[in-house]
Amino acid sequence: MKKANIAVFVSGGGTNLQALMDAERAGIIKSGTIRLVVSNNKDAYALTRAKNYNVETRVVLRRDYENSHDFEAALIGVLKEADIDMIVLAGFMSILSPDFINEYRDRMINVHPSLIPSFCGKGCYGLHVHEKALEYGVKVTGATVHYVNEIPDGGKIILQKAVEVHEGDTPEILQKRVMEQAEWIILPQATEMIAKQIMENK
Ligand code: GAR
Repeated sequence: MKKANIAVFVSGGGTNLQALMDAERAGIIKSGTIRLVVSNNKDAYALTRAKNYNVETRVVLRRDYENSHDFEAALIGVLKEADIDMIVLAGFMSILSPDFINEYRDRMINVHPSLIPSFCGKGCYGLHVHEKALEYGVKVTGATVHYVNEIPDGGKIILQKAVEVHEGDTPEILQKRVMEQAEWIILPQATEMIAKQIMENK
């Protein structure tokens, strides 16, 4: 069967992108190929990771466009050019409009560093998620991979994995544990599941 062409959207360090590339190399992702890495931040270390893996990169900056509509039209242009079947948001820190989401409905997934519906939604991203979990005092947190719909972190859940919170955790320590024990495992697994499904239905 033909493989899904995957685009990974990033904004920062790109450890989840690294997990995806490692999983492709290891054969965990076998129904898709990472064709393109798209960043909305030209300084994202994720871009260096992509170059080291020899995958094409594109930087699309919101500030280069007059409005979000034009910014998203540029993103869609880049995706169409590369014949992208599936988008993985891996630490992409920008909310996409309903029009963009419609274009890739059921073909776009996101990783979030908590057990949704806890500690998620607008303004709850990156380290803030772990700050909130520690503030609340939960003993278990984790990560979720879900479809992207119009509601931030509100799409159908694909996979979740729980991670223990330890006494004395800082947001940084907890973030690292959630990445290592959950995100880097379930994001590649979910990517393979959805890539397979997309290509079976194509
Ligand atoms: C990850 O923890 C990811 O789950 C989170 O940002 C981090 C990106 O790290 N995403 C969100 O909070 C989205 N709501 P990375 O660039 O090293 O993969």
